[in-house]
Amino acid sequence: MKKKLWGGRFQKPTAAGVEEFTASIRFDWRLYRYDIQGSIAHCQALSRAGILNASEKIRIIRALRQIQKEIESGKMQFSRQDEDIHTAIENRLAEKLGKVAGKLRTARSRNDQVALDVRLYLRDQIQLIQKKVRQLREALLFRARQSVDIPMPGYTHLQRAQPILLAHWFLAYTEMFGRDQDRLREVLARVNVLPAGSGALAGVNFRMDRDRMARQLGFERVSQNSLDAVSDRDFIIEFLSGGSLLMMHCSRLTEELILWSSQEFHFLDLPEDFCTGSSLMPQKKNPDVLELIRGKTGRVYGGLFGLLTVMKGLPLAYNRDLQEDKEPLFDGVQTLQDSLAMLTPLLKGLKIRREHLRKAAQDSFLLSSELADYLGEKGVAF
Ligand code: ARG
Repeated sequence: MKKKLWGGRFQKPTAAGVEEFTASIRFDWRLYRYDIQGSIAHCQALSRAGILNASEKIRIIRALRQIQKEIESGKMQFSRQDEDIHTAIENRLAEKLGKVAGKLRTARSRNDQVALDVRLYLRDQIQLIQKKVRQLREALLFRARQSVDIPMPGYTHLQRAQPILLAHWFLAYTEMFGRDQDRLREVLARVNVLPAGSGALAGVNFRMDRDRMARQLGFERVSQNSLDAVSDRDFIIEFLSGGSLLMMHCSRLTEELILWSSQEFHFLDLPEDFCTGSSLMPQKKNPDVLELIRGKTGRVYGGLFGLLTVMKGLPLAYNRDLQEDKEPLFDGVQTLQDSLAMLTPLLKGLKIRREHLRKAAQDSFLLSSELADYLGEKGVAF
């Protein structure tokens, strides 16, 4: 039986199923690196505040780094009794160091610890997603440059409307993803705030140099109100909201590619290595990757609404409901990363059927508004 961080007050063990129901280790193990990063910074702040002496500080930091290696090499296995990643690391630290490990618990609570970990995690993930959006826009720009001489029909109501250039169409998506880049940048600024020092809810009784900790961890600001800092999840909601728009743009793009690669349109061929076959109909080349990107959009929207609902009516400050922020966040991050990782190489491999596009654009009715403008110039009322 592993030790619970909060076990001291209790006489009875928890009822069957309670550990399973309340544990988050199954998914929050993903935070391990950030938990250790935060603990090292906390350890240094404790030492500056005179709570740890130099040798205690060094021993704790060394042990934390070892634990990180143990996790990364698979040597350290998590059990459900660990409850969450913060407990798992702390238990392991106690196994290694004995009593002195407990000193790390001074001047912090899991409530500000988890807020810190999630902010560190999300900051990294946003930067990775930003890189992928940048690569996607580069691929779109490249395709646009290759398509300045390819006319095609432009659509409204999915009916042929006016002739445009294919480049014009690629650049429309470049704009959309450009707004996503702006949004991610704005969200990142609100993620990048240090909540440590907020304690459970009311701050801590030690002189923790929060500004120094913020600088050390690369945060631009420190949170101003401890009640807010431990219960604020706005930054995750904003991320999922920006992520929803980003997925919506991916979904619109994939929808058009699916349509255009169908035999009905025949404007382009999808790269074969991004398509799958049918078990029953050997002639088929199915756009499953594109369909899955379109389909996965729902997961991110779902996460956004799930978390908005968790937050609605939540009293200050920390409540365990807040643990429900993690699965939508992790799933949203994974969905965005995976979808973008598919979309960019797929775009690069598209084969454009210039002649089909050109032929479709030559539909003579497409120029009726040009003709009307011509007559307008000659003085005829529209
Ligand atoms: N696993 C918890 C979470 O993700 C950590 C915080 C626990 N705090 C507490 N007071 N029970 O929210």
